[in-house]
Amino acid sequence: MKDTEPQSAAGKVLLHFSMSLDGFVAGPEHDMSWMTGFTVRPGLIQEYVNTTGAVLTGRDGFDSAIGDSRPYGGAWKGPIFVLTHHPDDARPAEDVTILSCAVEEAVKIGLKAADGKNLEVFSPSIGRQLLQLGLVDEIDLHIAPILLGDGIRLYSQPGTKTIRLNLVDQTDPVAAINLRYRPLAQ
Ligand SMILES: NC(=O)c1ccc[n+]([C@@H]2O[C@H](COP(=O)([O-])OP(=O)(O)OC[C@H]3O[C@@H](n4cnc5c(N)ncnc54)[C@H](OP(=O)(O)O)[C@@H]3O)[C@@H](O)[C@H]2O)c1
Repeated sequence: MKDTEPQSAAGKVLLHFSMSLDGFVAGPEHDMSWMTGFTVRPGLIQEYVNTTGAVLTGRDGFDSAIGDSRPYGGAWKGPIFVLTHHPDDARPAEDVTILSCAVEEAVKIGLKAADGKNLEVFSPSIGRQLLQLGLVDEIDLHIAPILLGDGIRLYSQPGTKTIRLNLVDQTDPVAAINLRYRPLAQ
């Protein structure tokens, strides 16, 4: 299996996450302390710093992380949009615009601000809504060698339609990926 090509800036709506092998993008209570102890290919962070024009996130992600920190360890600067039903009590922050609108409208606003680069959706809950609406161009995942067992899933939508995907950058776009892990001694 070959690695993906470097990400390109093309006005895409991108769901971009590091994910545990068991499908969680955050631990319980938005815990992100598990995001250490694994490596990514050289230059990967810079790829996303260069190709991201704007970020769309939800209120929980903003309150738990983005409010105090910035994407890519502060290496990326740009407009961040936070979607909420309760804009009044959202704390103001530099480069952050609080939105209270339909998710489709939030995407339009984010893409305009991204100005030809990608709009990165940093929220599984918004990602799920956009997937159901057919508004996601790519899902870009870095699967970490870890099992969390609990937390916030990339995709959890009981009772909704199944979404099939094509695997990008592979000869067979519907190939299953073969992975083999060994648990480390505790
Ligand atoms: N692993 C990674 O690479 C990675 C990357 C980015 C983020 N994350 C993590 O992902 C987690 C985000 O969790 P989440 O997706 O459950 O929460 P979230 O999307 O950040 O926040 C959910 C909240 O967003 C608001 N919202 C969502 N859709 C809305 C809509 N259509 N209209 C208005 N408001 C809307 C609502 O806020 P109100 O209740 O205020 O209305 C909702 O309760 C965080 O822990 C974050 O750290 C992980």
